[in-house]
Amino acid sequence: MKTLLVGATGLLGPEICQRLTAARHQVRALIRPTAHAAKRAALVGLGVELVEGDLKDAASLARACDGVHAVISTASSTLSRQAGDSIETVDQQGQLALVEAARQAGVDHFVFVSFRENPNIQFPLTVAKRAVERALKSSGMAYTILQASYFMEVWLTPALGFDVANGKVRLYGEGSRPISWISYRDVARAAAAAVTEGTARNMVVELGGPQALSPREVVRMFEAAGAREIATESVPEAALEAQIKAATDSLQKSFAGLMLQCAAGDAIDTTTSSRLFPFQMTSVHDFITAQLAAARV
Ligand SMILES: NC(=O)c1ccc[n+]([C@@H]2O[C@H](COP(=O)([O-])OP(=O)(O)OC[C@H]3O[C@@H](n4cnc5c(N)ncnc54)[C@H](OP(=O)(O)O)[C@@H]3O)[C@@H](O)[C@H]2O)c1
Repeated sequence: MKTLLVGATGLLGPEICQRLTAARHQVRALIRPTAHAAKRAALVGLGVELVEGDLKDAASLARACDGVHAVISTASSTLSRQAGDSIETVDQQGQLALVEAARQAGVDHFVFVSFRENPNIQFPLTVAKRAVERALKSSGMAYTILQASYFMEVWLTPALGFDVANGKVRLYGEGSRPISWISYRDVARAAAAAVTEGTARNMVVELGGPQALSPREVVRMFEAAGAREIATESVPEAALEAQIKAATDSLQKSFAGLMLQCAAGDAIDTTTSSRLFPFQMTSVHDFITAQLAAARV
């Protein structure tokens, strides 16, 4: 049985490929013609079959879905975008086209990586995710929708203003509401298990890490673990709301929306997810220990 992975050159994708191939599952990855040689070589090294295509090219999706049992899609244009890519063309129309291609190819199970809705905060990426989730639920295929909380390797790093090494952290809002920070590796593990174990078929699963902590608590934990003193600055929620309204670009609106959702907190009840995916997840404490150890090397 073969699984098609869309998003194999991103953060989650290689980890999912590694888990699937380790479980002796056949994997095909849809990669773009522009994919770097090193990323291609790493996937080939895992035994992954590569097919070229693009979420904006429906014919390539039909070819990629041909003969596969399951599809996992992690793709998104939020961080990795090329000419013609946008939330609308990739995250919405492209993912909808993939769902349709999978349905037409007779795919049994579709796993989609998404995030939770905060009904009070709407932006183009939430519109796209919810549209794809609805299409999946009515597709007739078995679906697993993984609504993950904020990735610690993304949101607790300098890329998003959490710059511990330089003693500066940008907080979204007051930074006082808890978030179930999760490691992308645990999201990848759950996505792979959905296919290899048949876990969570026809389910929407909220996935969070083991500790729900506010950004301010994470700052204090870094300091207590030996990081230098950290100065914080806050981006007021009103400024983020204004940014969503004023932005003309759907990506800018979506970034502001994700930050506002972060400010609002994202504590997840993990009772269901820990029953479905009963493995030890990385805690913020583990993450901090690893970050500080790497900084000392
Ligand atoms: N970061 C978070 O905190 C968080 C939280 C919850 C959920 N999520 C979800 O997790 C997923 C992100 O996974 P990630 O971190 O692995 O993303 P990522 O590193 O940004 O990778 C995105 C992948 O999508 C591919 N892609 C983009 N546009 C494409 C197109 N037009 N056609 C085909 N492939 C395309 C990219 O390919 P190229 O390399 O060719 O560009 C890349 O492989 C997203 O669905 C996101 O919404 C993220």
